[in-house]
Amino acid sequence: MAAGVRKLDVFGTTPGGKQVDRWEIDNGAGLRAQVLNLGGIVTRLNTPDRNGLSENVLLSPRDVGTIFSPGWGYLNSIVGRFANRIAYGKFSLDGVTYSLATNGGSHTLHGGRVGYDRRIWDVTPVQADDGPALRLSLVDPDGTENFPGTVNVTVTYTLTKEGAWRIDYEATSDRATPINLTQHAYFNLKDAGRSSVLDHVVHLDATHYTPGDATLIPTGEREPVAGTVFDFTTPKTIRRDLSKLTNTPQGFDNNFVVPGEPGTLRQCARVTEPTTGRVMTVWTTEPGVQLYTGNFLNGTVIGADGFAFAQHSALCLETQHFPDSPNQPRFPSSILRPDQTYRQRTEYRFGTDR
Ligand code: GLA
Repeated sequence: MAAGVRKLDVFGTTPGGKQVDRWEIDNGAGLRAQVLNLGGIVTRLNTPDRNGLSENVLLSPRDVGTIFSPGWGYLNSIVGRFANRIAYGKFSLDGVTYSLATNGGSHTLHGGRVGYDRRIWDVTPVQADDGPALRLSLVDPDGTENFPGTVNVTVTYTLTKEGAWRIDYEATSDRATPINLTQHAYFNLKDAGRSSVLDHVVHLDATHYTPGDATLIPTGEREPVAGTVFDFTTPKTIRRDLSKLTNTPQGFDNNFVVPGEPGTLRQCARVTEPTTGRVMTVWTTEPGVQLYTGNFLNGTVIGADGFAFAQHSALCLETQHFPDSPNQPRFPSSILRPDQTYRQRTEYRFGTDR
């Protein structure tokens, strides 16, 4: 198909009666995405394998009902206002203590009860120099989920001519607020989740990670990965050290420190899939990346192609600020002030081993 952006169809209606539109972005060179105005959810992302066959590499929802079913897990959506955890749903800012709803055990996870993944975004097609793009924007009013300040967010998805899914985030606020945005894409470079990602080979550049307690709240330390199961500086399969993990449900769900200067685009991960030859590198301006191996997926959600999303059927590389940053003075600040603009760029670059 020719490169471009177009509205495909109406994908469905939310439980609250809002229309969910589906858009398509095509870079004209084998990279194609379907995107919803609901949560900026990417329902499908087709990338070429080593034989040039372009197929979907994401867990794919069947309909809007799937997205609102329990156990959905933020699949392929934009996560905000604060991705990852805020311990016990509490933080203090400029002398005021804020209490958020807790929705992930005792903590606030991924923005609270109704995060950016469940909102309807305004969608505008853009023809950028680097490739066709969709601009998604949202006004997040003051006091939503008890966060301070009205936040204006814009997220732009570009499918570049070179074969990257580029995500540009921009946000401003009229009051100081914590902010942490990410894309929660569930990748399976082999077969979109029909089988597991255990044999995907992962290379992370991180020499350090932020250890946490059993509920995934960081201790505030940065520990070396050397000599631990979190050492991916030499590429290894997800399978290799999985059984050594002691968390429940078992799997990787850890924040890694991205080497180099935050604010500059640098590679943080490389994933290769031996059967199809697909290779994905992840580049980001963010300080951290959370590797999550779909530990909470339990087979109850059925995808567009008729198979259930089983545990470890996908992996996420969520580029972001470190978890619980608002309560961790030693972590890079995640506070956005009215005179500032929050910006981050992340790129998932696709290629093959050929
Ligand atoms: C993130 C978290 C996980 C889990 C998933 C969604 O990756 O770190 O613990 O909450 O999102 O299920």
